Amino acid sequence: MRNPWLSKKFKIYSHKITTPLVLYHDSDWHVGPESNLNRMITIQEEVKQIKPDFRIISGDIIDDTRTLDSDNRKIIADMLEESNHICPTIVSIGNHDIAKKNGPNELDWEKDIRLDWFQEISQKTDSYLVEENKIFEGTVYFDDQIEIVCINPPYEHYFKKEEAKEDFLNIYRNKNIHFYTGEDHYHILVLHTPAVAPELVNELPILQEADIILSGHMHAGIMPPYLRPIMNHTKSHWGLRTPNNQLLWNAKYCYGELDKGGKKFLINPGVTKIAPEKGFLQVLNHFLPNESYQIELLPEKQKVLTR
Ligand SMILES: [Fe+2]
Repeated sequence: MRNPWLSKKFKIYSHKITTPLVLYHDSDWHVGPESNLNRMITIQEEVKQIKPDFRIISGDIIDDTRTLDSDNRKIIADMLEESNHICPTIVSIGNHDIAKKNGPNELDWEKDIRLDWFQEISQKTDSYLVEENKIFEGTVYFDDQIEIVCINPPYEHYFKKEEAKEDFLNIYRNKNIHFYTGEDHYHILVLHTPAVAPELVNELPILQEADIILSGHMHAGIMPPYLRPIMNHTKSHWGLRTPNNQLLWNAKYCYGELDKGGKKFLINPGVTKIAPEKGFLQVLNHFLPNESYQIELLPEKQKVLTR
């Protein structure tokens, strides 16, 4: 039976991989006053046990820059430092990492880039990239066979609804971002939001050049109650909906594996458990997907041999 507390395993075969590698992928920690520290620790313990070759965290490490106090900074810094001792840990940035909430309503967020925090984190991680910030290039090379590019659309993009696709196209056509290496490298694109990219694979070079696209942001289509207290909800604020405002039964690309336009997308549900880990309510968590992914990257020929 599936263990919801451990990572879900994926096997991915590619002729570009010569030496098998294990990638651990997690996302959306949302560290803040209401974050689920227990779940983050469970994930970290699994990383310690598995000792993957590398780890990618695909954004929204924090929930709100306003609550990025010294305690929360320490939690993040200690976790990343420990993770980096186990394996190279690559942190990409999401919308919450560059924003603060300034009012009670859903749209009451404003951009807030905290360079001091990014600098602190950058000392403990291999790489990250944030929009409008050139501290780091968005590319990491790993083990001579992998290239990783991390991108995060500008903060304003996350508020686009109908025009989101066009907006995304404009952003990345103008940026002209590419993988540096050629076809001999396995290309991993880390893109915090998967909302429109699956529909645009054939339109943008950075998507075409990627072999796999890793995302987060969608919380498996469920905004956990601790992130959005039901008591405070207005009519447009029902609890079970995705970050891009689709109702659960109407939501697309919320978690799991997706093949679109010849590309593989893996959308990480992030730290999404909705009930405590102990007590009778925990049965609810078994209806939710595993929060982290363990991705085995394997040479193509192994697939042939096992058939
Ligand atoms: Fe997000």
